[in-house]
Formats: sequence, structure tokens, C-alpha cells
Amino acid sequence: MTKKTTLDLSWDEFDELRDPRPARQQFDEVVDRAISRRGFLGVLAVGSGAAVFGSALLGATSARAQAAAFKFEPVAAGTGFEIQVPKGYAWKPLVRWGDALVTEAKDSFSAETGVSLAMSDKVFGENTDGMELFEVAGKQVIAVNSEYVNPEINLPVEAEGTPRTAEEVQLLKNMQGVTVMEVADTGAGYGIVLDSPYNRRITNDTPMTLGGPVAGTDFVKTAADPDGRAVLGTLNNCGSGRTLWGTYLTCEENFNGYFGMTAEREQTPAEKRYGLKGESQYAYEKFDARFDLITNPNEPNRFGWVVEINPADPKSTPVKHTALGRFKHENAEMAQAKDGRIVVYLGDDERGEFIYRYVSNGTWAEGQPTEGLLSDGTLYVARFNDDMSGEWLALTPETTGMTLPELLVHARLAGTKVGATTMDRPEWIAAHPAKCEAYCALTNNSKRGGEAMPTNAANPREANEFGQIVRWRPEGEDHGADKFAWDLYVMAGNPNVHKDAFAGSPNVNAGNMFNSPDGMAFDSEGMLWIQTDGEDSNEGNFAGMGNNQMLVGNPETGEIARFLTAPNGAEVTGLCWSADKKVAFVGIQHPGGSWPDGNGKPRSSVIAVWREDMSTIG
Ligand code: FEO
Ligand code: CA
Ligand code: CA
Repeated sequence: MTKKTTLDLSWDEFDELRDPRPARQQFDEVVDRAISRRGFLGVLAVGSGAAVFGSALLGATSARAQAAAFKFEPVAAGTGFEIQVPKGYAWKPLVRWGDALVTEAKDSFSAETGVSLAMSDKVFGENTDGMELFEVAGKQVIAVNSEYVNPEINLPVEAEGTPRTAEEVQLLKNMQGVTVMEVADTGAGYGIVLDSPYNRRITNDTPMTLGGPVAGTDFVKTAADPDGRAVLGTLNNCGSGRTLWGTYLTCEENFNGYFGMTAEREQTPAEKRYGLKGESQYAYEKFDARFDLITNPNEPNRFGWVVEINPADPKSTPVKHTALGRFKHENAEMAQAKDGRIVVYLGDDERGEFIYRYVSNGTWAEGQPTEGLLSDGTLYVARFNDDMSGEWLALTPETTGMTLPELLVHARLAGTKVGATTMDRPEWIAAHPAKCEAYCALTNNSKRGGEAMPTNAANPREANEFGQIVRWRPEGEDHGADKFAWDLYVMAGNPNVHKDAFAGSPNVNAGNMFNSPDGMAFDSEGMLWIQTDGEDSNEGNFAGMGNNQMLVGNPETGEIARFLTAPNGAEVTGLCWSADKKVAFVGIQHPGGSWPDGNGKPRSSVIAVWREDMSTIG
């Protein structure tokens, strides 16, 4: 088998290969257990008002429901190197890897050699991911992550995918992080407003402030920053979020892959839990001592946080909010408790890791100061009980026996101490805009099962290749409540290949099959958009699913319909809408072939999708 690189895999998948979890110990009646769970879904569908979720999964009784209540005609599975959107819709790239933010960099991208070091902080980064659109002084400003780079694409062929000089490291550092850019419809569709004062690149080296309880503690002090309050850069920015006060939240995910060791030593237990190893993916440690665990063992403690960026102020310094915990953050979904406290739902994307919730001590209402709202509060971790109840377990010095800074830096260890439920890789969390409920995509978990990671009701299938979406409804319709009820909105699967639990829940059918749900966002009409990052071989267990895709789910009926398919090789990740909701902006990450240009290197891009009749799209 040929060696898999980040050209073949998403960064998530690559990190899994580098850092495998303990092997499954035994096969454990997977079919029986999961089928009984499907039975539970069926019960909910049949129940009237008595069931916890009432009308959940309607149409899921006997026949597998076909989507009916959508404004679009679902598209077929895609297998080629193109984008498919429904009849009556159109698309075009908004911005591609290497497109200019300023006039100086205009047309500087080369189909053969990519982006030059000189232009690398003046153009759109690679591998687009989470994004949000903000209205700032009448302008539309998008903040969007560049999760990682493909060194094979960015570096000269002779480098064979490993940087050889400090300059090559610098190029890779500059192609990642965050892009803030003004966009506008100039009459020929949406594009970047070149030279807008809002346009900004934030990279692996941009100065940031560390805020919250960990700032200034020994965990984060380094030789270069003896105060432990000033960090350079943000790493592996995956999902995103937005605050109620109009700032951007970018989430540091697989930061571990950027650190290495220039000499040998034993890893600490915390380093092991966080996947920190002897050699990095990008060889940063050979050219920048910050990334060498031998000389700077605390530097990784300065990553793995949620970072707040003000898109309205290009001179502002991003802040890393340590109160929200350190782990492999997917996204940050903000909601509000009934009493006005700020709630942030957070997933830790690794097999067997947890779902978290942060609750501020202070309250907020429109126009009030935001100081302290993301630095003074309590972090909780979720337990999903088999009886479909659940609770948020507070992580405090009393519950964990750890100091507050320690339990935030090593949140995974704290979560284990209080008995959190191991999940099938928590990806994006989306809170319903009109109802008090939240959804989390559990993308897949090949290692689920056996003693090391036994199945549980919310993660009921061993060797789970397909994934599921769990949702919870807080007690008293209050995101601030410590108890909730939960169910599974969908279990992905393949009903053509399987007749057991791997067929998926009844709202999965031959016309909407998918695997590995990842990105998720609600639109203004309360529909749930689901993006996938999974197996796109279209063979075996995945036959009929085709390429990665974006679907729309109706939370009331459980129906799901396929809206868009990506080019082969790509995942679909990142979604936001124009201010008038007539255009959806969709991220296409790590495409294959020469997409979208048709020649030269493949270019990760954000595309604009609209209805040809220019009515709203969400
Ligand atoms: Fe970068 Fe878990 O997705
Ligand atoms: Ca993701
Ligand atoms: Ca993923």
C-alpha cells in the first residue's frame, strides 16, 4: 500500500494515522446492541407528545423515508471532480488558495509553483475550514480558517514534502491560520474586495494574548515569554464560532502535529494523551526552537485553545481564552442561558474524547460590556447516560483534585477523572436558533468497542465507520441547566449493503447516504446543514455514497436531503451566508485533481452558491 499523505487524507484522518488509539480488544455483539438502539429511535418516531423528542424522526416507521419537504431537488451522489448543486442553483469560486487580498499580490499565484514566500501573508491561505460572516459598518467581512497545509503542494517538488530551510518553514506557517476579508457582490457575483482595510492574515506567527485562568501560570511560561501571556500564532484552526457580540472564534485542533523533539526523551502522560510526539509533520522544530519539546516543553500548552478575533478591528490582538479548556477543539457554538450567562458548546475531536460546555459567571445583554465573559466561568464535560438522560459534570478543583489552571491545560485528564462519556470523535456542534436544543456530529470511530472503549448508548456501534449525530435538549429549555435529555438525530449507514445497525437509522436511505458527518450549522429557517469529511471511495461499505457532500436535515421530521457534492478527494467544511441570505459560502478543502482551475495544482476554495431566481437560500 502506498504511504498516505495529507494529499490523500484530511488532517483529522492524518492525525489518527500518526497517533492511533489503543486497538479494539474484542468484537462485542455490535449488531444486537446497535439494532436495539435503532428500536429506540423507532419508538420516538411512533410516540406522539409523550416521547422525549415528540416528532423526532417522523416517517421513520417502516419504509425508509424519502426527502420531500425541501425547497430543492436533491442531487445524486457525485463521483467526479466537479461540484453538483440542485437544479436551479449555481456556484462559482469566491476565493481560492493563493488569491490576493491586496493589489500587490494580484495574479501572483502560479499553477505550477503555487504561492511565493514574499506573497504568502498577502493571499488566501490553504485548506479552508470554519468561517463566519460579519456585517461591519455596512460591509460584509468573512473570517475563515486555513486548517493546515499540504507541504507537497506548497513546497518545491525537490523538497518531497518536508521543508528544508527556515524560509520553507515560513511559507508553510504563512499559508495557515485565519484570513479576514471583505467580500462584496460587484454585479458579477461575490469576490474579495482587494485592499479593504478589513483584509488581514493571521498566521502561525501572529502575536496573541493569553487570557483567562491559565495566563501567567507556570504551565505557559517559556524562555521567550517568561510572563506566560504573549503567544505567537495559532495552529490548526479547524471549526469556528461567533460571539453574540460580533467577534470570531477560531478553534485550535490538532496542534500536537506541529511539535517535535530534537533529542530523545520519554513523553509525559499529558503529552501522550494529547498526541505530542518526537517528530512533527512539518519539521518546524528543526528551524524554530519554539516547536522543539526538548528546549520548549511548555510551548504546546499555549495551543489547543479557542481564540477570539475582532474582525472589525484589523489592528486588534487575538485572545486565547484558556477558560474554555485545552483540547483538540472542533468548533465553538455560543448560546445563552435563560439568566443571561454565556454558554459555549465545544467538541474534542479524537476517538474517545469528550463534549464540553463552558458557562460564564457573568451575564450579558445587547450593548453591555463583554469583559470576562470568556475568561471567568466554569468548564463542564458531558455524560450521556444509557437511559437517554445526560448531565454536565463541572470540572473544578473539588471534582478533579487538580488546580484550576491544571484542569484547563489538561482538560482531557480532568474529564476522565469525573467520568465523562467517551464519544465517537466530536466534530461540530450546532445550537438550534429557535429551540433550546443542540446537535453534535460524531464523525466516526474505527476503534470503538472492546474494553478500551466500550460502546455506550450514544455511541452504540463498534468499529463505527459511518458516524452519527447526537442531540440534546437541556432541562427547562435552558442551556444553563446541568441536566438534559438526548437522542440520536441520525445514525449514518449504508442500507444497500447492511441490514443491521450499519444500515443506519430509518431517515437514511439510498438517495441520501453519507458517512462521517463533520461540519454543521443551522440556517435562519431552522434547517440543519450537514457537511461530510469521510471515505469517498464509493466502494464496499461506502458504495452509493459517492464523494463528500453537504446535506440539509429537517430537525422536526428527521428528513435529510443531499444538497451538494464535492470534487473527489475533498471534504466539505465551513458554511456561512451573505447578509441577505441569498448566497451560501461553502468551503471545499483538500480537493483532488486540478480542481477548480482544471490545470495545475488543486486549490482549496470557498465557493458561493445561490438560487438562479435569487431567492434566499437559508
Ligand atoms: Fe479539523 Fe475535526 O476537523
Ligand atoms: Ca472538521
Ligand atoms: Ca473530520
